[in-house]
Amino acid sequence: MYWSELLESSRDGEQKLKMKSISIFGLGYVGAVSSVCLAHKGNNVIGVDLNPLKVEQLDSGRAPIVEVRVAEMAEEANKASRLHATTDAMKAIADTEISFICVGTPSLRNGKLDLRGVERVCADIGAALKRKNAFHLIALRSTVLPGTTENVVIPVIEAASGKRAGVDFAVCFHPEFLREGTAVADFFAPPFTVFGTANSEHLTPLRELYHWAATDIYETSPSTAEMVKYVCNVFHGLKVCFANEIGTLCKTMGVDTEVVTRIFTSDTQLNISPAYLKPGFAFGGSCLPKDLRAINYRSKELDLRLPLLESIMPSNNEHLERAAETILRTNKKKIGFLGLSFKPGTDDLRESSLVNLVKRLLGEGCQCRIFDEDVVLGRILGSNRLFIEETIPHIGSLLSSELKEVVEGAEVLVVGTKAVPANELAVYLRPGTTVIDLVHLEKSRRLSGHIAYEGICWK
Ligand SMILES: NC(=O)c1ccc[n+]([C@@H]2O[C@H](COP(=O)([O-])OP(=O)(O)OC[C@H]3O[C@@H](n4cnc5c(N)ncnc54)[C@H](O)[C@@H]3O)[C@@H](O)[C@H]2O)c1
Repeated sequence: MYWSELLESSRDGEQKLKMKSISIFGLGYVGAVSSVCLAHKGNNVIGVDLNPLKVEQLDSGRAPIVEVRVAEMAEEANKASRLHATTDAMKAIADTEISFICVGTPSLRNGKLDLRGVERVCADIGAALKRKNAFHLIALRSTVLPGTTENVVIPVIEAASGKRAGVDFAVCFHPEFLREGTAVADFFAPPFTVFGTANSEHLTPLRELYHWAATDIYETSPSTAEMVKYVCNVFHGLKVCFANEIGTLCKTMGVDTEVVTRIFTSDTQLNISPAYLKPGFAFGGSCLPKDLRAINYRSKELDLRLPLLESIMPSNNEHLERAAETILRTNKKKIGFLGLSFKPGTDDLRESSLVNLVKRLLGEGCQCRIFDEDVVLGRILGSNRLFIEETIPHIGSLLSSELKEVVEGAEVLVVGTKAVPANELAVYLRPGTTVIDLVHLEKSRRLSGHIAYEGICWK
């Protein structure tokens, strides 16, 4: 029985509305899991692969991969005639309304992403679309670098089909977040669902396909969606290495790794949370740099190599240098600073990255004026005073208590604190001033008009 007949014969109105016909290109881990899970949800699925063995297996109700629940779901869906497989891309495209691309994107020897599988499958799909009159929706699930959907996938399909994206077909980047070993459970409960497309008006069938998913759906641009997938994987890798280096350190120092981990991960306020994950400026202050140095020093004494922990201070210094270069690139010398202490609401200048940035710019011959409401030189005492006197002895001549004077005199205004009185600033800023934002002001608080705005690591 063909899908169309099956749809027609469905007595259940809701089922009829939501049931889709989907071709899944690539029957590896992602493709096989997607095939059985979508068929399990009542959709009609055709798996497509170049490998006849995988096709034969899935077409006869057997799993082409080893993964919990996939074998029984393949058998069940095949018996219900909702799951088939073929090597014939033409037929698969003709018989379905949505295609998933799940082909591999391995590394080349030099680390570059190998897109040959993606290019080939896009050419196959394009050739099939040439013979199809109905609109077709394509969801790319293979992991690809930002720009691939728009610069590779769409042009290849357009060239092979002679048709136009957004008119005859639409392409959406739809990253997959399943983990092998728990792939089926992850497919049914993903952390979120992401659609990256320039043609969101064509997404309705995909939205309907996931009517059962109880997760947030994000609709964004293809390159944003492509980047989200990489950010997730990079972060996961970072977490694993972090945990392993911390475990190594604990073991060598005779500390109980399990207990440390349990207590550390129980903090969902600062540790396992969005805290400190928003791109902004380099960290500083009287604790983080000192404590990182101490732990790295001890690791060296213990003859441990912990490259991740060792790389944190260099990475932070590099970010400070990035800020300096961004400012110096303007070729302007009069620099106004908003903020000097290591964070708003304190007058603590010890190891403030803003102090180090001012020092760096003074060394380049810049004239700096600084406004920070919390910093009153006469009130600064002890190690705080010692630090600033050693770092910038003439700091007193650079500080101003007048926001107006600092802002009006600046060719470049560096925003180093979120405690920015946006209304006053808007009045004082002169046209032609460049604003360099180090703290990631909310879009609504960024100064517009004739002002050139640049974020240190965002647009
Ligand atoms: N494996 C995972 O856990 C996982 C999770 C999320 C995302 N991803 C990403 O998903 C993609 C697929 O990963 P995978 O592990 O399933 O890959 P895989 O290598 O296991 O399977 C890819 C399949 O695609 C087939 N194929 C290649 N070219 C084809 C073509 N032109 N037509 C039809 N089939 C073709 C291959 O024969 C193979 O069976 C990759 O980009 C990967 O990075 C993988």
